[in-house]
Parts: sequence; structure tokens; C-alpha cells
Amino acid sequence: METILVVDDEKNYLVVLSAFLSEEGYEALTADNAQRALEIVESTDLDLVLTDMKMPSMNGIELLQRIKGKAPDLPVIMMTAYGTVEKAVEAMQLGAFNFIQKPFQNETLKQIVDKGVRTYSVLKENRRLVRALENRYRFDNIVGKSKPLQAVFDIIQKVAHTKATVLVSGESGTGKELIAKAIHFNSPRRNKPFVAVSCAALTETLLESELFGHEKGAFTGAIAMKKGRFELADGGTLFLDEIGEVPAPVQVKLLRVLGEMSFERVGGTRQIAVDVRLITATNKDLKAEVEQKRFRDDLYFRLNVVHVKLPPLRERSEDIPLLAAYFVNKYTREADHGEMTISPETMRFLCNHRWPGNVRELEHAMERAVLLSQGSEITLDDLPKELMSFADLEMPIDWQTVSSLPETLNAIEKRLIEKALALSNNVQSRAASLLGIPRANLQYRLKKHNIV
Ligand SMILES: Nc1ncnc2c1ncn2[C@@H]1O[C@H](COP(=O)(O)OP(=O)(O)OP(=O)(O)O)[C@@H](O)[C@H]1O
Ligand SMILES: [Mg+2]
Repeated sequence: METILVVDDEKNYLVVLSAFLSEEGYEALTADNAQRALEIVESTDLDLVLTDMKMPSMNGIELLQRIKGKAPDLPVIMMTAYGTVEKAVEAMQLGAFNFIQKPFQNETLKQIVDKGVRTYSVLKENRRLVRALENRYRFDNIVGKSKPLQAVFDIIQKVAHTKATVLVSGESGTGKELIAKAIHFNSPRRNKPFVAVSCAALTETLLESELFGHEKGAFTGAIAMKKGRFELADGGTLFLDEIGEVPAPVQVKLLRVLGEMSFERVGGTRQIAVDVRLITATNKDLKAEVEQKRFRDDLYFRLNVVHVKLPPLRERSEDIPLLAAYFVNKYTREADHGEMTISPETMRFLCNHRWPGNVRELEHAMERAVLLSQGSEITLDDLPKELMSFADLEMPIDWQTVSSLPETLNAIEKRLIEKALALSNNVQSRAASLLGIPRANLQYRLKKHNIV
């Protein structure tokens, strides 16, 4: 239960206000002077202070300043008398959360108080996430508290200092390259090069020359000698991305090189010896590729000495709040933006989303939200519109049992409505607008489909 401190020198007022706030579900504490109020602020975990402006001995403005000195983020709402706008403006400049003019309607007070309490609780939650990032849930720039990620941290710590070959697998955007870099930068090789090559989209000849280099005149277009990535990575780490795309002949050559750690440049005869730690990555199921005979099993065994498996983000949604807070923090700093929080609805949405593009997609969404957001809070409106779509809706219709058009349309309608509600965290007006129908129409359909 949130605790609110009410400060007023008129005792009757304290009685009325604390009764009202208790009715609204708050725990209300009272103080009939500013000195007493400060004692409570110091000794109690408060969620909001509601204070009168005009009081004997210490007035509301001075109290506000003293509170800000002790608890800078605690929201303070000033109650001002009619006709004292300048004082209210001064209070706002000094950091008051809001002000309300006496006499006021209970409803108005409730709205202002609710908003202050909510803003403060979101701020505290976001701060908690950022603090959690500072210790246990972070390794280098890798963030995650889920079991699989914690296991990844362990593996990195165990193998970084060795020369063991590491295979990193996971869908696109799950952080494969990030892991490879973490291994390199935590190894004794950290001051030597980290060289990354994408094995996709290169023809056999080009890939071979990219990896092993070529001598002048080795093939048409080879107008000068060129060192390959193995040579450039000497003493350091070579990261071969999309290893599953390597054509068969290059697989053979790789296998040979890995055994001896020496090779010839394309078109050359001289053996070149290197000292390279190899990390490879794939978004394919490499074992299945081996079974399908598309990838050599002997090479697979050499690469798969240590396997780091990165599950898709949707299978470790407990990492989402931490990651979201981490990215918001990162981009607010980069943009020299003040502190920003993520609204609870938005956080719930982020946790439930499927994230086909995994962490990369979440990162981009947060970067964009930080740049576009109008206030200091990220809301659903700041998320890319594509996220709020029906694109990932699965609609398994068993055509064998379809009996009539109306029945099928009904089933589709029900799925769409459920999805719209999920996308909008059960806010009906938002769901209706996603579906492009008036709210009353949505309510009629909810009844029809027995959705509560
Ligand atoms: N656990 C994590 N903590 C922090 N940032 C992460 C994490 N995982 C991924 N990222 C960030 O997400 C983005 C994508 O990561 P990365 O490039 O390593 O993915 P990838 O698996 O190599 O993707 P692809 O298969 O598309 O190449 C990067 O900006 C990376 O820093
Ligand atoms: Mg990558």
C-alpha cells in the first residue's frame, strides 16, 4: 500500500483528507507542522507528500526545498489558496510535482495524487532495474538474468582464457557476435586483433581468398598480394560468422588449417603459420546440417568444442525488462537526454511480444522510443507501429472440419479480437482502434464471443 503524508496546520483538514485518501486505498500519515513533516520524511518510506502552502513557522515552499534536499524524487503536491498563482509557479520551479487550488473536488485531488504516486513508482522500478544491471546481471555489455544467459556468462568466464574453439548458435539478433567479442576481450589475446568475417554471400573463390589471402596473379583480378583474415588475426581471435554457409571445398581447407594452423595463400606455395583462436557462429542448426550431409561432420566436431547456445528472446522473457532498461539508459545517455522511464503498460507489452528480430529488434525499438518520446516516460505510442500489428498472429484453421463460412469468419473474428486485446493490454478503447471499430461495437463482439 502506498503511503502519503498530508501536511496542513488546520487539523480538520487533515482529518478530512486522510479519511478520503484511506478510502482511495492509500495509507495516510498526517503532520500539522513542517518540522514534524520533515521528521516523518526522514524516518518513513513515503510515496508522496501533499502539503499546504501557508503554514506558520515554516511555509510550504521552504518545506518543499527541505524535502527535495532529503528525497529529491519524492513527489510533493502543493495545496494553494485561491489567487496565489505566483507561489504555485515558484513551487513548480523548485521541483514540486504539481499543485492544486483550494477548495478542490475530491476527484481532482485523486487524479493528481494517483498520477504522482504512479510516476514515482515507475521511476523507482526503472531505477531498480538499472541498479540490478550494475552487478549480477551483466557481463561486459551482455545483459541477462535468465538461466540460459547466466550459463553463458559462466561459459565465457571458464573458456575465455583458453584457446578452445567456440561455436555460438542462435537466431538472428540474439547476440552471437557480442558473445564472440566478450570471449576475445576477456582473453589474454585482448590486445591483439579481433577479426570478423561473414561467410555468407561470398563465392567459393572469394571466400577462400578472403580467409587465406592470395598471391599476385593467383586469379584474374588478383593484381597484388593480399593477406587473408587468418593472417590478419594472428595472435588474436578470428570470428567466422554464418559458418553454416561455407561451401564444401572451403570446408575441407578449413579443416586442414585448423589441424596444422598453417596454410598457403591462394596461388602460393609458401606455408604460413599463424596463432589464431577461432570462434564461429551460426543461425542454423549445424547438427541438422551435418545430418543432411551439407556440413562436414569432422569439421563440425572441431568447431563444436565449446557450444554457446543463445535461446531466442521470446523464450527468456525475464531478460526483457533488464534489456529494455539497459537500452533506454544507454540511448538517453548518448542523446544527452534526461532520465527516462518505461511505463508499466509498455513494459508488459514488451514482455509479451514475440520479438522475431530478438535483442537487436528490442534495441532498435528502445533507441527509437528514446528519440521520439515527448516526455520523460516511454509509452505504447512511442513504439514502432509495426510492433502493434497482427503480423505474428497464427490462425490454425483446420480446413478438414470447416463447415460453413459464418462459422469460419466467427473463429477468425474471435482470434483477431483476442490478439487486439493482448496488444493493447486489455485497454478496450485501444483494442477497438487497432481493429478499426467503435468501442461500443467491440463491446458487443466481446459479449458475442464470451470474451471477458
Ligand atoms: N544479452 C544482450 N545484452 C545486451 N545487448 C545485446 C544482448 N544480446 C544482443 N545484444 C545487442 O543486440 C544487437 C545484436 O546482437 P549481435 O549482432 O551480436 O547478434 P547476432 O546474433 O550476431 O545477429 P545476426 O545473426 O543477425 O548477425 C547488438 O547491438 C548487441 O549489442
Ligand atoms: Mg551477427
